[in-house]
Amino acid sequence: MNEITIFSPATVANVSCGFDAMGFALESLGDEMIFKKTESKEVVISKIEGANLPFEACNNVAGVVAQNMLKDANADFGLDIQIFKNFKPGSGLGSSAASASGTAYAVNELLSKKYSNLELTKFAMQGEVTACGSAIADNVAAAIYGGFVLIRNYEPLDIVSIPTPSELVATVIHPQIEIKTEDARKVMPSEIPLKTAIGQWANVGGLISGLHASDFDLIGRSLVDNVAEPVRKGLIPHFDAVKEASIKAGALGTGISGSGPSIFALSEGIETANKVKEAMHAVYKDSGIDFTLYVSRISTTGARAI
Ligand code: HSE
Repeated sequence: MNEITIFSPATVANVSCGFDAMGFALESLGDEMIFKKTESKEVVISKIEGANLPFEACNNVAGVVAQNMLKDANADFGLDIQIFKNFKPGSGLGSSAASASGTAYAVNELLSKKYSNLELTKFAMQGEVTACGSAIADNVAAAIYGGFVLIRNYEPLDIVSIPTPSELVATVIHPQIEIKTEDARKVMPSEIPLKTAIGQWANVGGLISGLHASDFDLIGRSLVDNVAEPVRKGLIPHFDAVKEASIKAGALGTGISGSGPSIFALSEGIETANKVKEAMHAVYKDSGIDFTLYVSRISTTGARAI
């Protein structure tokens, strides 16, 4: 194989209660990328559309991941990479993770599937360090494995795929303001009271159990975040109003997507997810802030060839 075109999904990290430990992939929103083998052994980013990102491979998330993988594999080829971004960096929808994971997946295909998904996640995490300074796995693991993932442990890395009920649909509003993950991490508390921690890990257990059993009420009851949401929601205009309107429209639960500003809701069925979309629209339409709305099923495959 000398060339591959791939789709790499947008992802919702944290999923309310699972800060840095849970994520899921969207089916119908993501980036496209083209990778062509070259003889020069260099990694060249020849095209970027849809975002203002660095072309120098060593400063570009995709470039860094590709360079590291080719070096590790002692590959006898280089790469020409074209990147087509369909959603913006700083959206809270895993833009850098889509680039990193898409690259990890694509380069692995060009290397005849040398690496496991766990190894690909580790390569993609190096891209996250380039993007935001932290080796976070929640977005990249979701984009590689697809569906819901749990980062059970970071060192050593342990990723658990969680079943996705097919009726689960995400609604996302992306207010067009930029929040850098790096900045949103600075407002996080360095310690939390035991009582808060108990609530948080109990909800992670509830969410995982609800996903396994397709118990939508339990999923909804567990979409609670007492750690990041209280300190981050102030960065997102109208967060409380969007949350209240979404729940009223039938959403199982609503929370901040990753480090924001996007807000996600999960619903049972496409009809309810569309009602939630209308409810979010009603909150934002006169806000003076541009916004984009998405309704998407959960991707069960993650990054894939197209
Ligand atoms: N879990 C991260 C955060 C999301 O909330 O800061 C970005 O990967």
